[in-house]
Amino acid sequence: MALHHGDADDRRLTVAPFLGEADPLGAMELSPPLHRLADGPIPPDTAYQLIHDELMLDGNAKLNLATFVTTSMEVQAEKLMAECLDKNMIDKDEYPQTAELERRCVAILADLWHAPDPDTAVGCSTTGSSEACMLAGLALKRRWMGRNADRYAAGARPNLVMGVNVQICWEKFCNFWEVEARTVPMQGDVYHLDAERAVALCDENTIGVVGILGSTFDGSYEPVAEICAALDALQARTGLDVPVHVDGASGAMVAPFLDPDLVWDFQLPRVSSINTSGHKYGLVYPGVGWALWRDKEALPEELIFRVNYLGGEMPTFALNFSRPGAEVVAQYYTFLRLGRDGFRAVQQASREVAEYLAAEIEKLGCFRLLTRGDELPVFAFTTADGMPFDVFDVSRRLRERGWQVPAYTFPADRTDLSVLRIVCRNGFSRDLADLLLADLTRLLPELQRQPVPLQKLGVPARTGFHH
Ligand SMILES: Cc1ncc(COP(=O)(O)O)c(C=O)c1O
Repeated sequence: MALHHGDADDRRLTVAPFLGEADPLGAMELSPPLHRLADGPIPPDTAYQLIHDELMLDGNAKLNLATFVTTSMEVQAEKLMAECLDKNMIDKDEYPQTAELERRCVAILADLWHAPDPDTAVGCSTTGSSEACMLAGLALKRRWMGRNADRYAAGARPNLVMGVNVQICWEKFCNFWEVEARTVPMQGDVYHLDAERAVALCDENTIGVVGILGSTFDGSYEPVAEICAALDALQARTGLDVPVHVDGASGAMVAPFLDPDLVWDFQLPRVSSINTSGHKYGLVYPGVGWALWRDKEALPEELIFRVNYLGGEMPTFALNFSRPGAEVVAQYYTFLRLGRDGFRAVQQASREVAEYLAAEIEKLGCFRLLTRGDELPVFAFTTADGMPFDVFDVSRRLRERGWQVPAYTFPADRTDLSVLRIVCRNGFSRDLADLLLADLTRLLPELQRQPVPLQKLGVPARTGFHH
């Protein structure tokens, strides 16, 4: 969450007299607190209405094409979630059935990701992929420390190799756990990690390589199998044995259904762990994620803590202690409800919308596609050469109609390139895609009448996108 600072609160604000329930004048005394807790209580309906009205200023989740996170679930799932709001995931002893549903989800994912022996694969739920990545990174670091105890004690600094396109959680991991981030820059039209440049950065202090399925920047899959093969060759040449973690925040819930022939998961012996966000293409509201290790050796025992469970002990691995059980229950609901065929149908629909929309945008003639939505149902595009507007102008104008389409600049070495990105999720129908297309088509003549991109006239390029 954002870090907030305190501030003096001497504001007096009156609210609508009708909110005062029985006494309209009562509301005139109300002042929703901005900085300091009010002295007394207010009626629950009044509190509800005030906050409800304020939240209308938030964007409409369904028009938010920036987020990967689920914005619609069935009412039955919502009902289950409401029934489980008061359950703390960590109280395994008190809520053994929620714990059992978590166990089933881990087993289902282990099977989906071809763990060599789903019975010995280990895994846990998390608040999202960020926590899952922290846990997976920690396991990699501990394993490296175990293999290099003397050198670590003598000052060797562990490093992690990844593309510069990684999500910010990997920068956090490296920062928080004092690991050197070795990032491969973008190069020409290659916007993600490739095997050759990944291996070139590996040395005896490399705790692992992160491969992303798929990249947050443009939805493309990184070549995990090629990276593993190149690391196999490195091992044959030098003896260095570098494990791979697959950050499948989105793709680990897409590829198993839509790309069954793509080999990216535990079928590759070098892949030691995988994460996904249950709340992205796992189709659950925020926040649930999953981290899985191929076997017990991949997750050092000393990182595991024990909690009470039916009079015994249950192993847990987590950063947080307390966490809501509702999302885990909802994840099990999606597995139960959809099955493989249902998941395939949902993800296929999103991919078809993405591919359709990308192709239609290309036809407008004012844009150049970087990706086509045929891996993750996500694509990135930029303005064609010679346009008098830039991606920030397009993003700003679409916002006037409620669409949130983020515009942002690529990282090193392609900071010259700015793009728009569209994430197609469950609930973003072909119908909505056509409405977006109609809006974009309608505003293009106006954009084309601009003399230059507004940035050049001093209008700041607002990016609503943070990795
Ligand atoms: C590739 C990748 N990794 C990690 C994350 C972080 O995931 P979460 O938001 O579930 O913490 C994201 C989020 O977009 C992502 O795209």
